[in-house]
Amino acid sequence: MEKYIIKGGNRLHGEVTISGAKNAAVAILPAALLSDEPCIIENVPNISDIDITIKILLSLGAEVKMLDKSTLRIDPRRIRTPVVEYDLAKNMRASYYFLGALLGKVGRARVSMPGGCDLGARPVDQHLKGFNSLGAECAVDHGMIHVQADRLVGAHIYFDVVTVGATINVMMAAVKADGLTVIENAAKEPHIVDLANFLNSMGADIMGAGTDVIKIRGVKALHGAHYSIIPDQIEAGTFMVAAAATGGDILVRNVIPKHLESITVKLQKIGAYVEEFDDSIRVTGGGPLVKANVKTMPHPGFPTDMQPQITTLLTLAEGTSIVTESIFDNRFKYVDELRRMGADISVDGRVAVVEGVGRLMGAPVKATDLRAGAALVIAGLAASGITEIEEIHHIERGYEDMEKKLRALGADMKKISIPESVLAQAL
Ligand code: EPU
Repeated sequence: MEKYIIKGGNRLHGEVTISGAKNAAVAILPAALLSDEPCIIENVPNISDIDITIKILLSLGAEVKMLDKSTLRIDPRRIRTPVVEYDLAKNMRASYYFLGALLGKVGRARVSMPGGCDLGARPVDQHLKGFNSLGAECAVDHGMIHVQADRLVGAHIYFDVVTVGATINVMMAAVKADGLTVIENAAKEPHIVDLANFLNSMGADIMGAGTDVIKIRGVKALHGAHYSIIPDQIEAGTFMVAAAATGGDILVRNVIPKHLESITVKLQKIGAYVEEFDDSIRVTGGGPLVKANVKTMPHPGFPTDMQPQITTLLTLAEGTSIVTESIFDNRFKYVDELRRMGADISVDGRVAVVEGVGRLMGAPVKATDLRAGAALVIAGLAASGITEIEEIHHIERGYEDMEKKLRALGADMKKISIPESVLAQAL
């Protein structure tokens, strides 16, 4: 078992470089299967969700080569099976992107129901509705999702909810369908635009990504491409909040400031000073932090993936803040852990009332999911005393070298491994 041990209280200062976006990469790597030639993908984050994605690609018969630490070459010419088994799919939500990619590539796929963060019910009905509209038969049995089509035909699809996953999956299935597909009420997140740009660089014809109507005109074949993934909006936002929470001063490099606007505006309201440059952003804390209300919304609203981190910051602010989660049913599980550190937060369904307590105290806590884990790291950095965070595998799913990057900013933080044999003796 591995843990982070953080001695809080240091003001973070210096520069940090943001890695490629997890939620773009987990879509773009499967999308490379749609090509008839190899693709080279740069700025791939070194995180465990990408390790799993690569294992899935290899299990399907694709050839994957690491050209350097963040560059991959994917050759999809020898795909031998359209099946992604439970053992691989269970660890990651985005394993369901292999449904859209394989359906578009070979007309069928069988993928185990996906895993990923437990944020409440996460149905896939809109994915299946989209595939169905394109002419695929869909069924779920024994925990496997089956999709199959003799021929995919463009269609008009209206999503009942704004969904990142289904927008991505249907885009991938539709790029080689016959005729025009129109997705209405599409998600507009930066990674949707990034995937569309990648597919277009392979010869796809996609317009409107980044708006709520995406038009995809099917093409016969896709060719290889050389593409660089956008920087991770949520990793950047996490470091921005860490600067504010520790009264620090961090220059966050390799970002697209436009993607960070909703986070920037909220941090300014809470009392941080934020300065934007072309591809970096500087956050300075240290002044008084004040209450703010936050409601998560689909892009360009405040991202649900930043909700635990900003809630943690609000525990350090003066006054009562209201945080409303409007995307997922159950994304406040980390609150119990923050309470162990002295936070005063009450939760009723999707609304949390945060009474600012000014300071937190170190305690042993457990990461309940990826962004919850990031929030606990921020809490530990800002708290007095020692915080021990267990279950850090959740954090490593989505943050590249988090503890190294934080240490370089002055954090007193280390990762320790406790051998299984020692744990067994302790039981
Ligand atoms: N929904 C349905 N039916 C569907 C699909 C979604 O009702 O068929 C609902 C969901 O239950 C949820 C809402 O629609 O209430 C939005 O879900 P969405 O499909 O947008 O989320 P997702 O694709 O499951 C991705 C990210 C999440 C991020 C959300 C929202 C990936 C791999 N995951 O999830 O990222 O929170 O979009 O932006 O891209 C994370 O990185 O920590 C993370 C959880």
